[in-house]
Amino acid sequence: MADIVEEIYALKKEKHAIILAHYYVPDEVQEIADYVGDSFFLSKKAKETDAEIIVFAGVLFMGESAKMLNPQKKVLMPDRTADCPMAHMGTVASIAQARAAYDDLAVVCYINSTTALKAASDVCVTSSNAVTIVKKLPNHHIFFTPDRNLGHYVASQVPDKHFIYNNGFCPRHESIEPAAVTAAKAAHPEALFLAHPECRPDVLAMADYIGSTSGIIQYASASAQREFIIGTEEGVFYELTTANPHKQFYPVMGDQYCINMKKVTLDKVRNCLRDETNEVTLDETIRRKAVGVLDKMLELAK
Ligand code: 13P
Ligand code: SF4
Repeated sequence: MADIVEEIYALKKEKHAIILAHYYVPDEVQEIADYVGDSFFLSKKAKETDAEIIVFAGVLFMGESAKMLNPQKKVLMPDRTADCPMAHMGTVASIAQARAAYDDLAVVCYINSTTALKAASDVCVTSSNAVTIVKKLPNHHIFFTPDRNLGHYVASQVPDKHFIYNNGFCPRHESIEPAAVTAAKAAHPEALFLAHPECRPDVLAMADYIGSTSGIIQYASASAQREFIIGTEEGVFYELTTANPHKQFYPVMGDQYCINMKKVTLDKVRNCLRDETNEVTLDETIRRKAVGVLDKMLELAK
């Protein structure tokens, strides 16, 4: 393992590359990354960087967003098949349908989406900025796509607007059920329950805190409490335990991992950087349309 890490560091230097990693990729990949963060933080880093190559240790929509924001850079994916199923649960046709039904409508697209879906939307959001951004929109009707759970959570925080929901969801977060949370709370009665807004509304109703991966980590780190039940993908445990060695973190249940994020291994990071393979390419016409919604997100999130 030491050899491969050395090789990655040498390649990064030689090629003037940067490695961006999401909190859900395996621990050893988070360890060698230049920046680890939530989707919002990583999109800002992708836009700002002056590196020539961006290796995106995450799923495809993240690499595509990086390419949209910084098209002159080479964006490489360690595993081209690491894709988020929810990104494909929204359709351009459903957006057209909503636009036909409502005059004063904004189409709000979660960043976990395809480039085509972004291109047909009005603004992009991530789990850490969705509430702030939707509150700033002048429109009364909001079509939220593709995640119904994040959509319902945002609606609960912005009650004066009318929401229409696409029916997508994250299979990983959706599988966390209230009964499992009840059991985890019974096993750890002192623990606070921190949940990602991709969880179902009946699970979020049981949470002491709701936020993005970064939000969960910041909340647990700042809290005087010492025990936490974590309602999101288990990759966040790496940062949670590194930053808080004296606190205890428990998953709600046993298999809280995203198979796509776990496809990103050190070998694949090294290979894509060494061979410059799995480059993200986008049709320029669609990219131009889609980048507008990401730029609008970066502007409105300020
Ligand atoms: P955040 O990193 O924005 O919390 O999103 C979680 C997620 O599911 C990314 O795919
Ligand atoms: Fe997609 Fe869920 Fe995996 Fe995030 S955890 S990448 S939303 S499948």
